[in-house]
Amino acid sequence: IINQSDNLPLQGKKIIVTAGGTKERIDPVRYISNDSSGKMGHAIAEAAMKKGAEVTLVTASELAVHSQIKKVKVESAQEMYEVVDANFDNINVLIMAAAVSDYTPVKQENQKMKKTEQLSIELKKTKDILKEMGQKKTHQLLVGFAAETENIEEYALKKLTEKNVDFIVANDVSKKDRGFHSNKNEVVIYSKQDDPVLISLSDKSKIAERIIELVVEQLG
Ligand code: CTP
Ligand code: CA
Repeated sequence: IINQSDNLPLQGKKIIVTAGGTKERIDPVRYISNDSSGKMGHAIAEAAMKKGAEVTLVTASELAVHSQIKKVKVESAQEMYEVVDANFDNINVLIMAAAVSDYTPVKQENQKMKKTEQLSIELKKTKDILKEMGQKKTHQLLVGFAAETENIEEYALKKLTEKNVDFIVANDVSKKDRGFHSNKNEVVIYSKQDDPVLISLSDKSKIAERIIELVVEQLG
């Protein structure tokens, strides 16, 4: 007997995936951002959609989005926070693949800034979206990423605990053949209950499928 739920195990599940690097405006023509392309998050959204989930992709990336995925385009960390927070009660899974800027300018200039000999821009910390959702989660499954250049396991496990999430997908962003801009990545997925899962260098679409498999297993 082939059950439809075998092919579409996420049918009836609502999932938010975030993607891309947020842009924090300094003035109308300048911003602070990072090297995230959004490819990983977009691949995860597609993998979840293919398993039957109702997917909302909250993205700071310009990449195209499949027509069966609801796209919400955001720019800043604050905008991303507001969209995730407003929908959090109604979802089953949140996957934070976005590279959320850790800082944003204290003040955003309304006019283009004129050049001077020296310039200091005062920055303040953004809201930690994943951590805030970890604090208020009831039934939601939370998946976070950890972008590291050293002590990957230690930092990933710290994020797992401190953000109160179910999985942390850790990747080494210092290596040139993977991660930012690349179509490939190599990750280790940490959880409280299971041994770490290594996914060796593969296409981001393959990594996305594996992450979604773990989500499916965890939702039982
Ligand atoms: N994250 C978030 N909100 C932020 C910063 C990060 O939701 N303001 C999320 C990311 O989307 C990712 C996870 O937290 O899923 C870890 O992001 P990362 O940058 O690796 O860690 P940080 O907690 O920001 O700490 P640090 O950059 O100092 O390592
Ligand atoms: Ca960070």
